[in-house]
Amino acid sequence: MEKIAAADNLNNNGEIQETINYYKTATTEDLCKRAASLCETIHGKDIILRGLIEFTNYCDQDCLYCGIRKSNSNAVRYRIDEDEIIKTVATGYNAGLRTFVLQGGEDSFYTSDKICRILEQIKKITEYNASVTLSIGVKSREDYKRFKEAGADRYLIRFETSDPKLYQKIKVNSSFERRITAIRDIRELGYEAGSGYMTGLPGETEEIRINNALLCKELDLDMVGVGPFIPSNNTPLAASPQMPLEHTIRATALLRLLLPKAHIPATTAAGTVDPLGREKMVKAGANVLMPNITPVELKKHYLIYSGKICLDENGSAIINDLALRMASIDRKITFSRGTALRFL
Ligand code: 5AD
Repeated sequence: MEKIAAADNLNNNGEIQETINYYKTATTEDLCKRAASLCETIHGKDIILRGLIEFTNYCDQDCLYCGIRKSNSNAVRYRIDEDEIIKTVATGYNAGLRTFVLQGGEDSFYTSDKICRILEQIKKITEYNASVTLSIGVKSREDYKRFKEAGADRYLIRFETSDPKLYQKIKVNSSFERRITAIRDIRELGYEAGSGYMTGLPGETEEIRINNALLCKELDLDMVGVGPFIPSNNTPLAASPQMPLEHTIRATALLRLLLPKAHIPATTAAGTVDPLGREKMVKAGANVLMPNITPVELKKHYLIYSGKICLDENGSAIINDLALRMASIDRKITFSRGTALRFL
């Protein structure tokens, strides 16, 4: 367990090892209780909202698990133009949202100049009252620097799995080292840094799952997104089994215990495999929700996995639904920017 040793150096009081030992032996119910209670101590009962805009589903990558991979000729491709992106943000801003996540495939159509222009306009129309997160994959350090200067506050780039061999299998022609370097670059450049992974990938072991969480700890992430791998039609992994959501629930609790201050979303993927998946994640220590505010006529085409929920509802209907869901488990949605605690 090389990773455990590495993580111990960061926190040389053995606390990490103790947490792992607890995770290994605790029932899911106990694990979640402990994590939820720690979450409440630090973040209260507030659940932070981030408006997600999936602005392009063109992608140069060919990840085996992903429905918008380059080789999926069945995917209906779309791009949202700059004006429409700004309009979508404005609608969300008027509905109260104060964080926007621009997510897309790795699409070279959106040059760095275009991305910078979009960032500048978003900052302007939201009167510098909203945080902007980019989630557009691996770029050069120079590009990350430019995006930051143009107004990006945060960057999300999941490492997907901490196991280099598994990574190489599922992300063909992509370098694990390069991706980890990108995450470190982002953090060094002053972004609020987010990463994460899927649980239940074919070939994943419990040891890999533990190392996934330890890698998040080692990277000292501000935000960690985790969700179940869902076999996606028209991909090489379409026939892979759907592993139990419990892996994601346990991962959420472990992440909360290792990274008490992190912002952890209850993901749409969890809500897809189980109607109460997001509620279960919140009860395991998640404190963020990401309503999908992509224009309704397009969101059905951002099919990274099959069966995705919330495809027929607009942003405000989704926010209303989330408010009710959170109230039912004694939580309250908040429209605050939800800045990483490290920056406050
Ligand atoms: N199942 C679950 N999550 C997926 N993602 C991509 N494809 C799938 C899938 N088939 C996740 C990846 C990516 C994020 C945007 O969506 O973790 O980083």
